[in-house]
Amino acid sequence: MRRPVVAGNWKMHGSRADNTRLVDALVEASDALPCDVVICPPAVYLWEVGRQVKDSRIALGAQSLCAEAQGAFTGEVSSGMLRDVGASYVIVGHSERRALYGETDALVARKFVAAQSSGLTPILCVGETLEEWEQGATEQVVARQLDAVLELAGVAAFARAIVAYEPVWAIGTGKNATPDQAQAVHAFIRARIAARDAIIGDGLRLLYGGSVKAANAAELFGQPDVDGGLVGGASLKADEFVRICVAADGGRA
Ligand code: PGA
Repeated sequence: MRRPVVAGNWKMHGSRADNTRLVDALVEASDALPCDVVICPPAVYLWEVGRQVKDSRIALGAQSLCAEAQGAFTGEVSSGMLRDVGASYVIVGHSERRALYGETDALVARKFVAAQSSGLTPILCVGETLEEWEQGATEQVVARQLDAVLELAGVAAFARAIVAYEPVWAIGTGKNATPDQAQAVHAFIRARIAARDAIIGDGLRLLYGGSVKAANAAELFGQPDVDGGLVGGASLKADEFVRICVAADGGRA
C-alpha cells in the first residue's frame, strides 16, 4: 500500500511572521493527518521552519537545488546544505524552473542525482504545456522528461523518489486536470517505470499538482494511481492545506 503524500510548494511567498503563523497552525493539526506532509518554503526560511516542525510529523522540503556539490556557483544551494539545515525532500524540475530558468531535462536529471547523493528524496516534476496538451503530446513529453532521469539515475533510484505530474496549464490557473485525465497520465507514468522494474513501479508515489484545492482534492486523490498532491497556492492557507491533507486518504484508510 502506498502511503499518500501531500507536499506544499510555497514558491516565492512568505515572511518570518507569516511562516510562523502558518506553520504553527499546521503543526497543531498534523498528528491527525492521514498522509505524509511536506512543506517547501523558500531556501532562506528552511532552517527556521525546520525548527518549528521539529517535533511534529511534518517534513521539510526545498524547492530547488544546485546540481553541483560545492564550489564557485554564486547564488546556488547544494543538496548537502539543504540536508544540513534539516530538509529531507527537494522539488526537482518544477515547470517554473524549466520555463523561467532554462532547466533542461539533462540538468533536471543531474539535480535528481545530486539530491539523492545527500540523502534527499527528490520530488520530480513532469508535465506538458498548454500547447503540448492541445497537440495531444502529453505522453510524449512526460516520457521524455522521465526517460532523461531514468537514463542517468537508473530505475532503482525511483525507489527513493516521488514523481509529481503537473500539467503546466493547470498550475496557478484554477483549471485542474479532471480526475480521469490525471489518472490516465499517472497510469502511464507508473507503467513506464514498471516496465523497467515492476516492484518499483508499483511502489512509486505519484502526486498530482495544478490547482489542487480542498474542493477538488478528494476526487483527484481517489483515483487509483494518484497518491497525493503537490500543492502551490492552496498550501499558503493553513485551513485549506489541512483539508487537502485530510482528503489524501482517498478512501484508502
Ligand atoms: P498551484 O501550483 O497549486 O498553485 O496550481 C502547483 C505547483 O506549482 O506545484
